[in-house]
Amino acid sequence: MEIVEDPSEVKSAYARQYEDLAREIAKLVPNRSGVLAEIGCGKGQLTIPLAKLLPQHQFNVVDTFSGAYAGTLSQLTKALSRAMLKSRVKVHVADYLDWLWGEFSDKYAGVISSEFLPEIDSYELSMFLSECYRVLRHGGLTIHSFLSPTPRNPRQRLLIEADTNPIWTKTPPKEWFSPRPDQVVSTLERAEFRNIRVKRIKSNLIIRARAAEHLFESWHVKSSFWKKHRTRIVREGLEIPDWMIISGRKA
Ligand SMILES: C[S@@+](CC[C@H](N)C(=O)[O-])C[C@H]1O[C@@H](n2cnc3c(N)ncnc32)[C@H](O)[C@@H]1O
Repeated sequence: MEIVEDPSEVKSAYARQYEDLAREIAKLVPNRSGVLAEIGCGKGQLTIPLAKLLPQHQFNVVDTFSGAYAGTLSQLTKALSRAMLKSRVKVHVADYLDWLWGEFSDKYAGVISSEFLPEIDSYELSMFLSECYRVLRHGGLTIHSFLSPTPRNPRQRLLIEADTNPIWTKTPPKEWFSPRPDQVVSTLERAEFRNIRVKRIKSNLIIRARAAEHLFESWHVKSSFWKKHRTRIVREGLEIPDWMIISGRKA
């Protein structure tokens, strides 16, 4: 278990989480070349480690870069330049559904997302996964990773509460912290995906004291939450929930 207390270490601890996640996701993707689409790429938290692990693939990454995420486009552009990935990763500034609707059927080797399903609701989830199916070539994969909505302990429960309850967060979710894995599985089944796999990876990351306050700021959690739970957060900390990786194949 890694415990982070220093605010300046939150970024690198989180980057390591994404590196682990990228390794798990890369294992699912067949080696032969192809184009992968990533929806809700943000600052490239997953994009960059994944693109490094999959040198044969081109990436089309999509995000609105707006609202609470305004400003992330320039961070992504800088990160792609630094990693020398600009020629392999094409950035599209668009709403995910508008963008998907404009894509040809049977084109992509994979459509992936990381922490994007928390942004949508159950109605959008079924439209999204159906569009993933349509744009994938036969044998293509859809892979979605997100933090589990089911806490395994009080430290994870506290983090989920801070990030979902409108009393505490300035950016409450539409429907959920994340969808339940069984709901994602049944929606994939309805969209006709096969070989559906669910993998759970423990984050093993506890964020405590000032580092937790720093995390809250970047997640738009109100300072009143920190004030109310300060003693507990200093003593026990918050724990990043388990990562879920759910994938399905277009037969
Ligand atoms: C929680 S962030 C995830 C960022 C990154 N993929 C990660 O794993 O950390 C969710 C991202 O989804 C994007 N997003 C939200 N609604 C969107 C939409 N309708 N179309 C495209 N992107 C959207 C946001 O701009 C944001 O970058």
